[in-house]
Amino acid sequence: MSNIQEINRRRTFGIVSHPDAGKTTLTEKLLLFGGAIRVAGAVKSNKIKKGATSDFMEIERQRGISVATSVMGFEYGDYKVNILDTPGHQDFQEDTFRTLTAVDSVIIVIDAAKGVEPQTEKLMNVCRMRKTPVIVFINKMDRPAQDTFTLLDEVEEQLKIKVRPLSWPINNGPDFKGVYNLFDRSLKFFNPNIQEIEEGMKFEDLAHPDLENHIGDDADVLREEVELVEGVYPEFNHEAYLAGDLAPVFFGSALYNFGVQELLDSFVRIAPTPRAKEAEERVVEPLEEKFTGFVFKIHANIDPNHRSRIAFVKVCSGRFERNKMYTHTRLNKSFRISSPTAFMASKKETVDEAYPGDIIGVPDTGNFIIGDTLTEGEKIHYKGLPSFSPEMFRYVENADPMKSKQLNKGIDQLMDEGVAQLFTSVFNGRKIIGTVGQLQFEVIQYRLEHEYGAKCLFEPLSMHKACWIECEDEAILTEFKKRKHQKMAKDKRGRDVFMADSMFILQMAQSDFPDIKFHFTSEF
Ligand code: G4P
Repeated sequence: MSNIQEINRRRTFGIVSHPDAGKTTLTEKLLLFGGAIRVAGAVKSNKIKKGATSDFMEIERQRGISVATSVMGFEYGDYKVNILDTPGHQDFQEDTFRTLTAVDSVIIVIDAAKGVEPQTEKLMNVCRMRKTPVIVFINKMDRPAQDTFTLLDEVEEQLKIKVRPLSWPINNGPDFKGVYNLFDRSLKFFNPNIQEIEEGMKFEDLAHPDLENHIGDDADVLREEVELVEGVYPEFNHEAYLAGDLAPVFFGSALYNFGVQELLDSFVRIAPTPRAKEAEERVVEPLEEKFTGFVFKIHANIDPNHRSRIAFVKVCSGRFERNKMYTHTRLNKSFRISSPTAFMASKKETVDEAYPGDIIGVPDTGNFIIGDTLTEGEKIHYKGLPSFSPEMFRYVENADPMKSKQLNKGIDQLMDEGVAQLFTSVFNGRKIIGTVGQLQFEVIQYRLEHEYGAKCLFEPLSMHKACWIECEDEAILTEFKKRKHQKMAKDKRGRDVFMADSMFILQMAQSDFPDIKFHFTSEF
């Protein structure tokens, strides 16, 4: 198969949702279709149990399993599908945001009863930032749901994206009868007792009285609603979807395997092939001859006896070949990757080649950090891996003076993995760790002890936000840094960060220094 054929058949995407909307269940059902797993339950075990904020065994177990399930590739018809797993736990949302830089499209799962939830909105904001095409799957139709039109309005308003239903539910909850596929005009019946996939039944003309024989009293409602849908929503526009301006919507019940195959079939048909990627220097097209790729995730210490890590590299252009020399542009060094792994079906295997859209696992002994770029020599640095301002801050102190080297190394490596962010106070030189959730502090403490033999203590620090600052006028910046000396810090890359104690202090600083830009992400 030629490069272009290989690229065109790839679909690399992520599934995101607010916890509990059904992401895991849907992922599992898609994998069952793809033959990547054989029994239900295989993905479930990858979840951190609800409320487990300090269950370290669970976290460790999860880390072990999630290497295998971080990327799940399978063949589906002529397509090669790659699902990138995103952690469901809110405290790991930064990990999810980074994974979203490596996908070409996204499926957002929404609970039909709960509608759009806070986490859904945050994730959609990230998709919007990168114009990622989005498909919406409204799940749990077997349970009492909100009115369908109200739900769609909510999606449009809160997720700030136009929608176009491609299927339409017939009732919901205990009376859920199935969906009408608006695309190929067929009826699909829901039966909670039969989870096998049945072909949809062609039903071009909803006015036909035979409809009553199939869905009884719901026939009239369906007729009215579909008429309204066709009147209110414009035709599905593929270009608008690919541009990230329009989200097709499907309805179903992942638990009962209903609507999932329909989703997958439509997905492979309409979802984008690997997209061009913006680097600092230029835009790189997947069809370019030379290989480029970037690290979007690092997974450490799969085997605690060896400090091994796996760097996950998304192939962006050209063809990756095993044992070829590639340039690590940040270090300006050449590397030969001799045992890259691919994640196909349920096993991890060494691969000889990979194409744009694919993810390869590269064993690493500490050369890679998130965002690193590999090329055939060209100086390219991929953009798009922002750090967000953390929401919790603690001073980190060494609790075992004999182990300070281990502590520094451990903190360094954990930060490279993206577990949390490190800032160093300009005022007193103390190290500050910033995270999105409480769970990360516990993970850091635990991992420092178990993997690096170091002990640390955290000291509370009341802080509102870390803001990266920027100003065209150097003199104003210098004045600001002088005035705010006690609150200035450097991030890991040595950039200036203003640590605002409170929203009020931040607003004051913003009004006192209108020429300074305060950024809440590290990429601007
Ligand atoms: P998440 O990954 O988005 O957090 O959600 P997950 O798939 O784990 O689903 C959360 C809960 O919702 C699970 O129930 C799951 O079985 C249920 N669920 C998912 N899809 C559907 C659906 O289409 N219909 C119905 N009725 N339920 C659905 P749980 O009781 O929390 O877990 P479990 O004990 O079933 O594993």
